[in-house]
Amino acid sequence: MTHARSGEVGAAPLNAVRLRAAVGGPESVWTDIRVVAETGSTNEDALKQAADGANEGLVIAADSQTAGRGRQGRQWLTRPGAALTFSVLLRPQPVPQAARGWVPLLAGVAVVFGLRQATGIGARLKWPNDVLAGDGKLAGILAEQSGDAIVVGIGVNILGTERDLPVATATSLERCGAGGTDRTDLLAAILREFERRYLHWRETGPGDAAASGLEQEYKSLCGTLGRQVCVQLPGGRELAGLAVDVDPAGQLLVSPHRGDLVAVSAGDVVHVR
Ligand code: BTN
Repeated sequence: MTHARSGEVGAAPLNAVRLRAAVGGPESVWTDIRVVAETGSTNEDALKQAADGANEGLVIAADSQTAGRGRQGRQWLTRPGAALTFSVLLRPQPVPQAARGWVPLLAGVAVVFGLRQATGIGARLKWPNDVLAGDGKLAGILAEQSGDAIVVGIGVNILGTERDLPVATATSLERCGAGGTDRTDLLAAILREFERRYLHWRETGPGDAAASGLEQEYKSLCGTLGRQVCVQLPGGRELAGLAVDVDPAGQLLVSPHRGDLVAVSAGDVVHVR
């Protein structure tokens, strides 16, 4: 069954009451859960709240975004009602700066497990945190830092066929046979998976990805490792080689066809074969 408000393509609107009952509460890291019908970008909204002093644990979810932001300055385009779009605000105070690069990777792991729980779909990660179903991108994650705050924005394509998804590399739950997934249930599942890992990682070390098990969990889901890749680095350079490992800071280690191992901290990876 589909539920459409005017101008929307079909998924049921987010239900704030049900969401708060499922994941909020005094014991939860998610202390302030807000749902809006429409906004420009939930990341931008959460960053504004962070600048105004909002506490860790703010969640802003929108039924629809009109100016969604993607990685590397790109847009994140979704049709109204066709995606799950939300951002969370974290302030991982005790974690040293050098270890905070694990937050976007942790988010990717949480999305994979949330999807598994809510839909049964077995997704994989492309470094750093593109969520793939088969070869198609099912969800994207944008982490932005401002002072001691990190805003993590997540967009999951729910509805969309090959014809109406915004880019050829995208896929959706609909294309995977799970277009009827309830956005509130999926969001609750992702937030639960996120919270469990985040609290454990934050308290272990603090921020020790190896000791907390996050590093192993990430590597077991990362389909990039062991693949020939081409990395488009910021500034336009390209790096081709074999993706051999992820280092303790969360960087991708690439063995180029010639020369020494390169640690990549940011870039777009293409799986070559
Ligand atoms: C990517 O380029 O893969 C990252 C996409 C991130 C999109 C999400 S949707 C919710 C949040 N708000 C935004 O403006 N962007 C992120």
